[in-house]
Amino acid sequence: MRIRVFTTPAAVARSFAADIARALAANPTIVLGLPTGRTPIPLYRELVRLFRAGRIDFSRATTFNLDEFVGIAPHDRCSYYAFMRRHLFDHVNLSTRRIHVLNGMAPNAARECARYEHAIARAGGVDVQLLGLGSNGHIGFNEPARALFARTHRTRLSMATRRANAALFGNRATAVPREALSMGMATILHARRVVLIATGAMKARCVARMIEGPVTPRIPASFLQLHRNAEVWLDRAAGARLKDARLKGARLKGSRYT
Ligand code: GLP
Repeated sequence: MRIRVFTTPAAVARSFAADIARALAANPTIVLGLPTGRTPIPLYRELVRLFRAGRIDFSRATTFNLDEFVGIAPHDRCSYYAFMRRHLFDHVNLSTRRIHVLNGMAPNAARECARYEHAIARAGGVDVQLLGLGSNGHIGFNEPARALFARTHRTRLSMATRRANAALFGNRATAVPREALSMGMATILHARRVVLIATGAMKARCVARMIEGPVTPRIPASFLQLHRNAEVWLDRAAGARLKDARLKGARLKGSRYT
């Protein structure tokens, strides 16, 4: 795992947006896996800024979002699709037919999940999968459990996760759907490059367990330790509980391998 520590969330966003711009310039038909949540908002803001400045072109890129709530229509303002439109899709030149988000209203969830897996395979697989980190260690909606799902699936959300998503639902955790559709662990781990971003002191404990603890389904993000091209981009606050002193921000922007 390659760990990068930056001073602030804004510095993470700036640096990673520049990284995506370079990746897109090298491969205009890149396939990106995208997360929702508070963490990627500064990154999306920065990507929009680069687009407006004419420094990034998404016209031939393809995207797949990680997850979506069951029972929430794409046009509903609480959906992850609506979130993506607000923060990215409506402001850059991604082609609508190359944007993919799971449909939480699909009458047959299993068929919808299979359709999504086929679409990813048809696109040639994901080149760069971006991830946020749930404070309980989830990635996408792969919640801590005794066993994890390999492929895109329907899943139950923990109360902690529903609380974390309450902001989208008028701050009412009970209004957050109990179920979601999510890419599975293999769907995520088969991406050619995986980049997890975590910022803020709230994530520090989980970040340390993900990087320095054992690989365990109790911390789904710990499975990134098995990926040969996984990166974790942190701000100093999120890296504060790492035992490896070199990662505590002593040499910011430096890359380290664990
Ligand atoms: C949600 C999403 C995850 C995301 C997580 C973290 O539960 N399904 O993909 O990583 O939130 O959210 P935040 O970035 O707001 O901490």
